[in-house]
Amino acid sequence: MRAFPNTRLRRLRAQDFSRRLVRENKLTVDDLIYPVFVLEGENQREAVPSMPGVERLSIDLLVESAKHWAALGIPMLALFPVTPVDAKSELAEEAYNPDGLAQRAVRALKAELPELGIMTDVALDPFTTHGQDGIIDDNGYVLNDITKDILVKQALSHATAGADVIAPSDMMDGRIGAIREELEQQGFVNTLIMAYSAKYASSFYGPFRDAVGSAGNLGKSSKETYQMDPANSDEAIHEVRLDLEEGADMVMVKPGMPYLDIVHRVKTELRAPTYAYQVSGEYAMIQAASQNGWLDHDKVMMESLLAFKRAGADGILTYFAVEAAEILKG
Ligand code: PBG
Repeated sequence: MRAFPNTRLRRLRAQDFSRRLVRENKLTVDDLIYPVFVLEGENQREAVPSMPGVERLSIDLLVESAKHWAALGIPMLALFPVTPVDAKSELAEEAYNPDGLAQRAVRALKAELPELGIMTDVALDPFTTHGQDGIIDDNGYVLNDITKDILVKQALSHATAGADVIAPSDMMDGRIGAIREELEQQGFVNTLIMAYSAKYASSFYGPFRDAVGSAGNLGKSSKETYQMDPANSDEAIHEVRLDLEEGADMVMVKPGMPYLDIVHRVKTELRAPTYAYQVSGEYAMIQAASQNGWLDHDKVMMESLLAFKRAGADGILTYFAVEAAEILKG
């Protein structure tokens, strides 16, 4: 037996220069997509209690803040409208109102900050009285094909308003192909589609549903007849492959941290631009523990984001985008 190990992996860890030289992954501001909640009215700002640090903003305040976010180098925002209760309906007509909150927010942001990417969420849950992502039958079952036709209208209204990236988060079958066809026919050949391809029926979305005000509408109903079973992995590959075939430019896995195995499989098996959503519940967990002094906020935040890169994500939707960008700037 020799008195020393054959290989000392600690040699490379001994100094900062060598740790930097062998570092395999790096988070940059180019990896960050910032999800924001948009309110009606003017000069409106509301805290989201279950997401400490996150605020809903009216369009005027959103545009002002977006100047700062763009200056930090954040490439894109993802918009989520907080639909007033009286604009919700069984058939979610507000979803494709050309003067709806999301559509107006897109126009205002693109007018002021044309180079900042704007992504919009395509799904009906902010607009239905029952909080489901689609149109329901008498038993509460979400009807695929009727919903898909409305999603196409919603996507077209977003593209018409100037959205750069359309992001269907509804998990209806065939919606990517239908939206792509409509965009092509209407001349929106360069409008990108980021498909929420592997979106799981997760309980980590709770705080988001508070933020957009759909939690109360949804009540105890679940979304497991259309969102994926957390037990499944091969099925995610199937979903992603179909969405790419139907014309998606980018694909997403959601939630993020508990699903990094899926991010890794999607990236290594499909080799397409792959994004992960660090969702509201993941954010809330880190905020809650940090506020209690149980975790070091900045360090845990940066480590969690780096983990997405290591898993293979090309980018991350994260409520930490602004804070992370500030830290990355130094
Ligand atoms: C709506 C939508 C949801 C999220 C993004 N788009 C909620 C849901 O599917 O119920 C969740 C985002 C988050 O939790 O941060 N279709």
